[in-house]
Amino acid sequence: MKSVGVAPSIKEVRMFDHPAPSISQDRQIKVRTLDVGICGTDREICTFVYGAPPSGSNYLVLGHEALGQVTEIGAGVTRFKVGDLVVPSVRRPCTDAICIPCAQDRQDFCSTWKFTERGINQYHGYMTESFVDHEKYFTFVPPELRDVAVLVEPLTVAEKGLAQVWKTQQRLPWGKSSEVDAPRGQGLNAVVLGAGPVGILGAMALKVNGFKTFVYSRSRKPNFKADLVESIGAEYISSEEMSADQLAAHVGSIDLIYEAVGVPGITFDVLRVLGINGVYVMTGIPAPKAPIPVAASEIMRNVVLKNQAVVGTVNADGDAFASAIRDLGTFHKQWPEPLRRLITGRHKPENYQELLLGKAVGIKNVISFE
Ligand code: BGC
Repeated sequence: MKSVGVAPSIKEVRMFDHPAPSISQDRQIKVRTLDVGICGTDREICTFVYGAPPSGSNYLVLGHEALGQVTEIGAGVTRFKVGDLVVPSVRRPCTDAICIPCAQDRQDFCSTWKFTERGINQYHGYMTESFVDHEKYFTFVPPELRDVAVLVEPLTVAEKGLAQVWKTQQRLPWGKSSEVDAPRGQGLNAVVLGAGPVGILGAMALKVNGFKTFVYSRSRKPNFKADLVESIGAEYISSEEMSADQLAAHVGSIDLIYEAVGVPGITFDVLRVLGINGVYVMTGIPAPKAPIPVAASEIMRNVVLKNQAVVGTVNADGDAFASAIRDLGTFHKQWPEPLRRLITGRHKPENYQELLLGKAVGIKNVISFE
């Protein structure tokens, strides 16, 4: 089969002839690849600072954001039928008996760090014509979401992030507002750092949860990302035009910051202005770099005196995938055009070079295997 991958030992990014998979266990399904999204992690793997091939292979098939269609099911499959649209998850459990999270299907919290990740870490990904896996690693996609469901995996980052926020803020009176009908973010301010796919999808999720939402990103207005952000009713603010302190003065109390930029300087600068009892969610994974100066005493004073919580979140569990499909359905009804405009290009697998190694352009670029 056609596939796009990397061979780190010889520092090559290219197409590989990959063997076609077949079902070998009762509860596996075989899926024909439709769309695969490209993200910063893929581009980073292509610089060879991250990612690893499976043991025994000298290459890794890339791709962890996928949408596919079921073409075959094992004898014991109960959740899917041939023809269903599905989205696969990324992380697979370690086999260490001491790892309680993995034993409970919560490998997103794997405690040994011996997990694998499809398309990233020791397990081939989805940038190929078909793939096979246990049915428990898939989520059903309603047919009306066919064109946008490739956005599910990046949206799961926000969904797991929000789940962490609700848990963390149960310490506060407003954290308990899930018991009443009002959306949990009502009356609260959220700032999203970054206007890439994870940032904009996060802003959409915050909006549907009732937060007054601001997106803080570098480029000055007007630009197409700012237009998209404003078309969903969030406010776009350029960091070139407003400092972090001015941002805080403009927003008022910042109850939640959702970092989706992966840039340490801005991440820590904005941490300085998190509000009283606020929560800060980090999702970016910067490449290793030299230390930078940060306002450490100001940050530490604030974290303590203002009861702040800083939480990191990686990967996503089955519940986050289910919430992502549900929220994507809401976005689709509420903002059909902005949602479609998040996908800025659909390309043939043969165009991998410009997409993975060229200048990052647009918002979400997709490789289509159809
Ligand atoms: C993926 C996650 C993964 C993380 C770390 C991200 O790009 O979305 O599923 O856990 O990279 O490898």
